[in-house]
Amino acid sequence: MNISIIGTGYVGLVTGACFASLSNSVTCFDIDPKKIRLLQKGIIPFYEPGLENLVKTQKNNKSLKFSLSTKKSTSFADVIFLCVGTPQSKSGNLDLKYIMDYVDSLCNILSQDKLFLSNAKARKFIYIKSTIPPGTIKLLVKTLKKFHLDSKIFISSNPEFLKEGSAIQDFMKPDRVIIGASHPMAINIGKDLYRPILWKSDRMLITSPESSEIIKYASNSFLAMKISFINQIARLSDSVGADIHDIRKGVGMDERINPHFLFAGLGYGGSCFPKDVKALEYILKKNNIPADLSSATIKINSDQLAYFFNKILRFYQDKTIANKEFGFWGLAFKPNTDDIRYSSAISLVKLLSKKVKKIRDYEPIAYKNASDELKDFSNIIFVKTPEAAITNSDSLVIATEYAEFWNYPGENLLQLRDKCIFDGRNIMDKENMESFGLKYFGIGR
Ligand code: UGA
Repeated sequence: MNISIIGTGYVGLVTGACFASLSNSVTCFDIDPKKIRLLQKGIIPFYEPGLENLVKTQKNNKSLKFSLSTKKSTSFADVIFLCVGTPQSKSGNLDLKYIMDYVDSLCNILSQDKLFLSNAKARKFIYIKSTIPPGTIKLLVKTLKKFHLDSKIFISSNPEFLKEGSAIQDFMKPDRVIIGASHPMAINIGKDLYRPILWKSDRMLITSPESSEIIKYASNSFLAMKISFINQIARLSDSVGADIHDIRKGVGMDERINPHFLFAGLGYGGSCFPKDVKALEYILKKNNIPADLSSATIKINSDQLAYFFNKILRFYQDKTIANKEFGFWGLAFKPNTDDIRYSSAISLVKLLSKKVKKIRDYEPIAYKNASDELKDFSNIIFVKTPEAAITNSDSLVIATEYAEFWNYPGENLLQLRDKCIFDGRNIMDKENMESFGLKYFGIGR
């Protein structure tokens, strides 16, 4: 099939490259000329494991192309994936301008296209991957009706469930593919598109557009709620001297609950959970439904950072901390991504820098974005190894759980002058660290 991808950000590029690898001819469009120029040279503007190779291979095969022209996107393909951004205001409301603008311009172009109008078989199928509030597709269908194109253009919801750091795997082996469509032709095209990756499993669900739109918000908000729940339980665990690792295991053994997304830490971050929980809170209130659960999830998450930061301040009792030097491991919102949007690690290092003499940061992947973000913080320096971060430091903070930190030898950490580890991701073995004479502070243990 010929496929146009509108919006070549993270979701658009992964979707385009993966569909190209499934024997489709794909062109990815974007309004940003700099981005398109880079992609045409095979350079990826962000980090995602395996994506650069996949893009290069499909580009060399000529099954993946990049272009700036919106007009071309409508003529090139009958299947169009909308992957544009939906910026959020402070209240949680989403700005659907980019989606509305594209559908408007598509209707403007096609309503004057005599060939398209006169060909009884000509159709366009739009699938929206961007996260959109329930009711958006209904709204877009009104635009189609205004242009008398509602029997030739079909708009459906097809939310994405990719995780940064494992996006290609998530696309190729999905837990589920949701198609929220009202027209049988849009459903059948959706089935054909995903057949190569779903033929062995029965993981496609066809729903109404409204249900599909809600599934995305409900999924992300539920996962975020699990994280806030375990973070609250971790505080209880701290106050009575229990161990959150054991609690997570014991609770998660109940198959109705399961142990996933029950790791206590610095709270959730990234470009999805904070935005989607806030949007669900807004949508519920707009529908006159109390949004207590979403509000509590947000509140616990934003308090979690202060909770951990206070452990550091309490240890130093605020008096001596101004003379202290800290090693700081990790700044990305999670491992294996260069994304620092809503990263708890970034918020924490900013708070810490106001209190201490010096911070030595080590971040293996997101160092470029992180050093740009922190360029005005004169007491933060970047180093190239975990060792260099602890050398000449008094204490260590762990803020992102990269694999290289998990089994870091305790004897190397003894060089910390105060022999102190603040582990915001609970990744180190507490007993082992204490057996070396180190002081260990996790969350909930
Ligand atoms: C999330 C969802 O997991 C994807 O299914 C969804 O497609 C995506 O949002 C999206 O809407 O685009 P992502 O933001 O890449 O994916 O990251 P996650 O792996 O879900 O982690 C989110 C945050 O939760 C991270 O800050 C992570 O450190 C934190 N987390 C995760 C915890 O604190 N505890 C856990 O047990 C799990």
